[in-house]
Amino acid sequence: MGDAQIPLQHNGALPPLDLKNIQGDILEGIAKKVQTFFFFRIKADHAASFRNQLTHLLPLITSAKDARSFREEIKDAKRRIAPEGHQIGLIENSSVNIAFSQFGLTALGITDDIKDGPFKIGQKKDAVEKLGDKLEDWDPAFKNDVHGVILVAASHQHVLNRGWDRVKHIFHVGHKDASIEVVKELDGKLRPGAEKGHEHFGFNDGLSQPSVKGVSAPDMDGPHDGPVDQGIILVGREGDNGDVPPGAGQVGPGPVSRPSWAIDGSFLAFRYLKQLVPEFDAFLEKSANAADVGPEIPREEVKDLLGARLVGRWKSGAPVQLAPGRDDPSLAAPDKNQNFRFNIDSQELCPYAAHIRKTNPRGDLDSKNDDGTINNNTDVRRIIRRGITFGPEVTPEERESKKSSSDDKLERGLLFACYQSNIANGFEFLQNVWANNPDFPFPPNGKPGFDPLIGVAPAGTVREMEGAFKNDLTKPLTLTADWVISRGGEYFFSPSIPALKKT
Ligand code: HEM
Repeated sequence: MGDAQIPLQHNGALPPLDLKNIQGDILEGIAKKVQTFFFFRIKADHAASFRNQLTHLLPLITSAKDARSFREEIKDAKRRIAPEGHQIGLIENSSVNIAFSQFGLTALGITDDIKDGPFKIGQKKDAVEKLGDKLEDWDPAFKNDVHGVILVAASHQHVLNRGWDRVKHIFHVGHKDASIEVVKELDGKLRPGAEKGHEHFGFNDGLSQPSVKGVSAPDMDGPHDGPVDQGIILVGREGDNGDVPPGAGQVGPGPVSRPSWAIDGSFLAFRYLKQLVPEFDAFLEKSANAADVGPEIPREEVKDLLGARLVGRWKSGAPVQLAPGRDDPSLAAPDKNQNFRFNIDSQELCPYAAHIRKTNPRGDLDSKNDDGTINNNTDVRRIIRRGITFGPEVTPEERESKKSSSDDKLERGLLFACYQSNIANGFEFLQNVWANNPDFPFPPNGKPGFDPLIGVAPAGTVREMEGAFKNDLTKPLTLTADWVISRGGEYFFSPSIPALKKT
C-alpha cells in the first residue's frame, strides 16, 4: 500500500476529524470504572484465522463518536437526579478497542513502514538506555514479543466480564482452534470512595489533556477552545502536507506521510508502573520532619506541601503555581485547574523538577517567532493520557510497616497508557529527555534535578531535585529511592476503524 496525505479542503485547511473512524479510547476517552488490558500473541500460522475472527470483533469496537455519545448520556443522567438526590438508573456501558505492536503487524504480513522509530523496534529495545528501566523488574510477559492489546473498559465489573467473555468467544481463547494466546492480562479499576480519580500516591489525576485539532480545537490557526495552555495535538495526522503550524505533531521540516491505511490511527505507549506507596509516604514524612521551617507549622502540613511541590499539584488537583502556600480545592475545578503558566526564571511557586512541570513545561520553553508571536515549542510533545490505577488500597499492616507487601496480590500502581502522533516525540521524549534529565527545563540558574515521580538516574548516581523546600530553593532534596518501578510495557498502533475492516 502506498503512502497518502490527507487532501486539504478548498480553503486549504485540513478536513475535520471524522469521529466515527477513530477508536474511542484515543480522542474522547472511554468513560470507565474498570478496564482490562489483554496482551496477546497471534499463534504461528494463524494469521488468516485471526483476520477472520477479527471481523467478528468489529461490532464491539467503539468509536470516538460512540464514546462522546456515552459521555453525553452520563451528563444527561446526572441532570436527571431525583429531588431526594437519588440518581435515576445506572448506565451500563462497555467498550472494546484494539491495537497492534510492530511484531503483530509483521505477524499479519503488514510490512508498511508507519514511520515511528521506537514503535518499529519495540519498547524493550529502548527500555534500559532510553527509559531507564531495569529489565530484572520487568514482568516476563513483556520480555517476549507481544503482538497486540485488546482494551475492554466498562462501567461495572460484571459488564466488563461479559465483554471479555464475548472477546474470548470470538477468538476461541483457550480452545485448540484459538488464533491468539493471551500473554498477560492486567486489570485496572478506579480507586474507591473519595479517592476516585486519584492515583495511588493520593493525587488527583487525569485533569490535564491537550486540545485536539478538529475535536476540541477545530480552528488550529485561531485560539484553541480547549482548556488553556495544555497544547494542541494532531492525532494520527502527523505532518499532513506539511500544512500544520510549527510544533503541532509534525516531525522534522518536511511533510511526513503515512501508509494510507494508517491515517486516523494513533500510537499507544503502554507502561505497567508499580508504585511503592507506603515508602513514598514515609519519605515525605521523614523529609518533612527534617525540613527547617520552624516548629509552628504542623508536620502534616509540611508533608502535604512537600508532596505538592514534588508533583506540582496538591492532592486536590489545585496547581501549586496558583496555590503556593496551602491547598485550595476550589482551584482544582475544571475551569481553574489549567489556568497557569510557568516562568523559566523562577521556581518559587513550582519547582522546576515537579512532575507536571517536567512533563509539560508550560511557558518554560517559549520562544518568539519572526512575526512576534510566541511559540511554546511543546505542542509536538503532547500526549493524551488514558491510564487507570490498578491494585488494592494500602493495608493497615503496610502502612504501619512503611513498606509495600511483597505479596504480588497487593501490588498497586498505574496502567499508564498514552496516545500520540509519534512515540519518539511524545512518551519517549518526555521520559528520556525531560523526566530523566536533571538539567531540564534549563533554567538560567540552578540544577532542577530529576522528576521525583518518574525520573530515573543512571545506575550508581543519586537522584536529587532542587526547589522542594520553599524557604531554601537551592537546597537539594535527595530522592532516596525510586517509588515508581517499571514492570514493562510495549508500543502499539491503534488503527482507524475503516483500516481494521480492511485488515
Ligand atoms: C500529570 C501522576 C506517570 C506524564 C500527572 C498528574 C499526576 C500524575 C498526579 C497531575 C494531574 C493532571 O494534571 O492530570 C503520575 C504518576 C505516575 C505518572 C503517579 C506513575 C505512576 C507519568 C508518565 C508520564 C506522565 C510515565 C509520561 C512520560 C504526565 C503528563 C501530565 C501528568 C504529560 C500532565 C501535565 C500537565 O499538562 O500539566 N501525573 N504520573 N506521567 N503526567 Fe503523570
